[in-house]
Amino acid sequence: MLDLKKLIDGMTVEEKIGQLAQFNANVFSGSDADITGPLVKNGLTGDDLYRIGSLLNFKDSKEMNELQKRHLEGDRNKIPMVFMMDVIHGYRTIFPIPLALGGSFDTELLEECTRMSAMEASSAGVQVTFTPMVDYVRDARWGRVMETCGEEPMLNGIMGAAQVKAFHGEDMSKFGGLATCVKHYAAYGGAEAGRDYNQVELSEHILREFYLPAYKACIDAGVDMLMPSFNVLNGVPAIANSWLMKKVLREEWGFEGVVISDYNAVGELITHGIASDKKEAAKYAFENGCDIEMCSNGYIKHLNEMIEENIFTEEQLDAVVLKILELKKRLGLFEDPYKGASPEAEEKICLTAENRALVRKAANECAVLLKNDGVLPFSKECKKIALIGPFADNHNIIGFWSCCGKNEESVTVKQGIQSKLPDVEIKVVKGCSNKWNEIDKSEFDEAVKAARESDIVILCLGEPQNYSGEGNCRSDLDLPGVQNELAEKVIVANSNTAVLLFTGRPLAISKLDSIAPAILNMWFPGTEGGNAAADLLFGDANPSGKITMTFPKSVGQCPIYYNHTNTGRPISKQRDEMHNPYASNYIDCGNLPLYSFGHGLSYSNFVYEGMTLSKKEMNSDGEIKVTVTVYNDSDIAGKETIQLYMRDLVASTARPVQQLIAFKKITLNPKERKTVEFTVTEPMLRFWNSENEFISEKGEFTLSVGYADNMYYTESFSLK
Ligand code: BGC
Repeated sequence: MLDLKKLIDGMTVEEKIGQLAQFNANVFSGSDADITGPLVKNGLTGDDLYRIGSLLNFKDSKEMNELQKRHLEGDRNKIPMVFMMDVIHGYRTIFPIPLALGGSFDTELLEECTRMSAMEASSAGVQVTFTPMVDYVRDARWGRVMETCGEEPMLNGIMGAAQVKAFHGEDMSKFGGLATCVKHYAAYGGAEAGRDYNQVELSEHILREFYLPAYKACIDAGVDMLMPSFNVLNGVPAIANSWLMKKVLREEWGFEGVVISDYNAVGELITHGIASDKKEAAKYAFENGCDIEMCSNGYIKHLNEMIEENIFTEEQLDAVVLKILELKKRLGLFEDPYKGASPEAEEKICLTAENRALVRKAANECAVLLKNDGVLPFSKECKKIALIGPFADNHNIIGFWSCCGKNEESVTVKQGIQSKLPDVEIKVVKGCSNKWNEIDKSEFDEAVKAARESDIVILCLGEPQNYSGEGNCRSDLDLPGVQNELAEKVIVANSNTAVLLFTGRPLAISKLDSIAPAILNMWFPGTEGGNAAADLLFGDANPSGKITMTFPKSVGQCPIYYNHTNTGRPISKQRDEMHNPYASNYIDCGNLPLYSFGHGLSYSNFVYEGMTLSKKEMNSDGEIKVTVTVYNDSDIAGKETIQLYMRDLVASTARPVQQLIAFKKITLNPKERKTVEFTVTEPMLRFWNSENEFISEKGEFTLSVGYADNMYYTESFSLK
């Protein structure tokens, strides 16, 4: 039996500190000349190299195996390094971005996709993934909204917890089992003005009710690691924020896992103006419980010195090393430091036909039919198709954070339609660029001609995939460049047009919405995007995705979200388009968004036929059964997510106008009717009050079924 405590006793302080250091694989790789560069840049010596506890961003199993072998030969303690990477929405076979997957409301699908990516990543040598990312978001300008499941705290938590379990698999110590790291704790998604890395200033009740629950859900699901966020939260950067890192995380929630800084976040304490030098930065991070320092050298350079100066004790260091070694042990690395990763395994496991079929299914389930005046689904009997727009034959649709996925391995819309309808004539015209600074209308005439001469037009618009993701924020949320003008001309030429939208965030596409007969939002659908688009456009798949982040009418409405409070001067839905003086509204734009959280159409016609409550009063230890009946009044089988919302009408803290408390996704065959049942209990009614307690208050509540401003039924009950 491996005795970790004994192992630690035999280590020098430098060796112990090495376990707390993580660097990019390039500090190791290549020739001596290559080594000198990154080594010098990171202030490392040759000896430091053999002590490093973990690496990130290596290429593949070949590099991983070489690095591990070299390390084990040089490390007298024979402690394997642990290899980490961001496996966000697939490793090599890429599935839709998390913002899209959230809208599938399908945890089983997410688990299936996650298991597939765990197997692929494992074959390439990844042992820990920096997933799930569960940052709560309300502002579509922020580029990283694509990594989360959106503006609903409960949904984010459920999806995050599902990923933790799926990455672990049956046995984390075996091939295919990955450890997980929840991020970015906390409230990174609350960046002011939607600008990445910007400060966050939030009251405790907003934090507790909206921003913190998903991290906690992942901890309850057994997440192994946690990454503090880059941002300043209420004045102090997360990594040095003792309220966040000590009081809430360790004391209240009892998190015992490994905390890893974000990339150079320890070093950035100096830039924030919180620490005067690296030593002070390392001190703040270590004393607030940051165990591993990613890509800066404060610990390697100064921790030993601080132990000698009695700022920290060697016992404190030992406790951290033990946690890290325990993680390596749980991962099975002491038995097999390579965990079965090999080029042969990669070849066998990655990008198989089976994996492609799964991500095609996922892309079908995640697409959201935003609008349909009846043009979709298109008939396969058509003779000539005009495929117009910058995404018509574009491989760059897998989305940001695609790990080792390759754009060139994705299926374009053109390829997808061609393989579905090999005998149909397809005319492709790019029409214009999707970039904001490329204004060229020279292909407009050709696009209009193609539209006129075709039976149907598929207009493929959106924003480039590198307009979302880390560091990619926008101050304008409309379609970049001259895409709106192209759309206008093409739709005038042929009204039998459907728009396929590619995006990593909600876009403010009011103009497009006002002219397009149909809009099918593909998000960034992944490797099989083009095939999924063809399935959906021609009715081989029926759209069932919902949006989990509100689409604003204009960027000025941001932040905009469904679970807002009422204000003392609300306006009614009917008056939305008018300026209502001395009410909470805009002069030039109503309060309603373009598309609300929970919106998503289908080719089926779902009719909500009724909602009943088992009783009208509930004690705090009781429950109410809610039944909802839905009928598919169409000839097309489809899936519908039934969403149950709650409103607390009177409470000591102003409550949101709606809060999602439960959902169920069902399949309905043509003319089929189903009744689903929800159970409402007191904990679902709780909120964070001004006394800093999570409580419910007695009184009147409503329960509604539908979504946002489109509730089909509302019933009330009282909590006694
Ligand atoms: C990101 C993290 C990521 C890390 C490692 C950082 O820039 O903020 O989300 O896990 O890099 O790649």
